[in-house]
Amino acid sequence: AYWMSESGVVDVMLLSGPTPARFFSQYASLTGVTPLPPRFSLGYHQCRWNYNDEADVRYVHGQFEALDLPYDVLWLDIEHTDGKRYFTWDAHKFPHPKEMQLELAATGRKMVTIVDPHIKKDSGYAVYQEAHDKKLFIQKKDGAELDGWCWPGSSAYLDFTSAEVRQWWAERFAYDKYEGSTEHLYTWNDMNEPSVFNGPEVSMDKDAKSLAGVEHREWHNLYGMYMQQATWEGLLQRNEGRDRRPFVLSRSFYAGSQRWGAIWTGDNACKWTHLEAAMPMLLSMGLCGITFAGADVGGFLGKGGGYGDPDAELFTRWFQAGAYQPFFRGHAHHESARREPWTWDDATTARLREVAKQRYQLLAYWYTAFRHAEVTGMPTMRPLWVAYPKDAATFEMSREFLAGPDLLVHPIAHKGATSASVYFPGADPWYDCVDGTAYAGGREVRVAAPIDKLPVFQRGGSVVPRQMTLRRASALMKDDAYTLVVAPDAAGGAAGELYMDAGD
Ligand code: NOJ
Repeated sequence: AYWMSESGVVDVMLLSGPTPARFFSQYASLTGVTPLPPRFSLGYHQCRWNYNDEADVRYVHGQFEALDLPYDVLWLDIEHTDGKRYFTWDAHKFPHPKEMQLELAATGRKMVTIVDPHIKKDSGYAVYQEAHDKKLFIQKKDGAELDGWCWPGSSAYLDFTSAEVRQWWAERFAYDKYEGSTEHLYTWNDMNEPSVFNGPEVSMDKDAKSLAGVEHREWHNLYGMYMQQATWEGLLQRNEGRDRRPFVLSRSFYAGSQRWGAIWTGDNACKWTHLEAAMPMLLSMGLCGITFAGADVGGFLGKGGGYGDPDAELFTRWFQAGAYQPFFRGHAHHESARREPWTWDDATTARLREVAKQRYQLLAYWYTAFRHAEVTGMPTMRPLWVAYPKDAATFEMSREFLAGPDLLVHPIAHKGATSASVYFPGADPWYDCVDGTAYAGGREVRVAAPIDKLPVFQRGGSVVPRQMTLRRASALMKDDAYTLVVAPDAAGGAAGELYMDAGD
């Protein structure tokens, strides 16, 4: 390996393990852990660039309700704002943002709005003017306020590396400052590399300066992390006296970002190869401490992005894979066709409902895995070698993975495939989660995987908690019974864990 540092000295830490589990806790002691996410955020998220207006939101939400499709969060992209002025609403399209959120909340749902770091240079925009007056923006080499091009046009960029700026930003999330926001509203930080359309490598001049006078080349990778931290603190502070876990999704990240929320893999495309690539990407992020991570289900770039829109097969396979990955969100480019779960045919909708049900049945299992991540640094989505470090056959395997400690998942990532060669690690048997068929460990077996079947297996020796009642949102499952699925190991034993709390 060869490392090159653009400025300063590279600090190298060697983590001695020797087991994968020890390695994760050593790494966590250096960079921190993922705090237990609010339970709703482990459900399904429905996003699109953009849901156009309140009527559109009502329609999409109503379809999930009418078709018994579980989902927890509806997302609004940049067009919901008044001219890409974040913390505002387009008054014609979204005249009643609070009522809209309360309507969603009445059925247990949440909303997320996007808040990007580029601030429109407009003296009539209070966020810009106040930050300008207080001199909170990144400067050019000569000390003038940096001027970069992004969604709103000419924009300034807050200096999130400054603790004072982070506190000022956090205050923007107070309910009286972010007008139209409620406690049911959470946040998406995008473009925080930071993206500067007319800058070098579509980012900022390397000699731009932070308020402390430090050049951008020194803190480029930290910018997104500090922004997500500031947003996280804002969502905490707005609930003064009522402690509620924040939820913030960020595109840019660094070692330690796991402390401030979830990450997604950015603009993937609607292609089978990108469905497949999500697995090694998410596994790698998990190894680096970023365990609350996901990839856009369906592939962000469809038509308009130069790709086709997903057909029922590709979307179904992607939805199946996403349902067993930590952060589960469907998203789409604004020029792509609508792709909510009812936009193909009835058989596909029924299939997708079954997949979403599987996700919701296992929410408590995911929640327990996240509780472990919080305590030990163990990623929730793991390569097989983490659990079977002596089995060399697993070392390069990323076509299948472990979701939590006890489920082996082998997503179908190839067009037309109706079977898969699944490797079963270890000495204990594995049981098909649908029909209970047992497979001996330590061998590879070809299993059937017709379009309505994702190969998922429970480890012999485990007890997996499920909640079997179909609910349309995680909030409605609070008092539902648990079914404990016991899968005996070779000696007939099994053990498991279930972590419960108020969920927020
Ligand atoms: C880029 C993001 O990666 C994408 O998810 C988003 O929809 C667009 N920006 C528009 O905000």
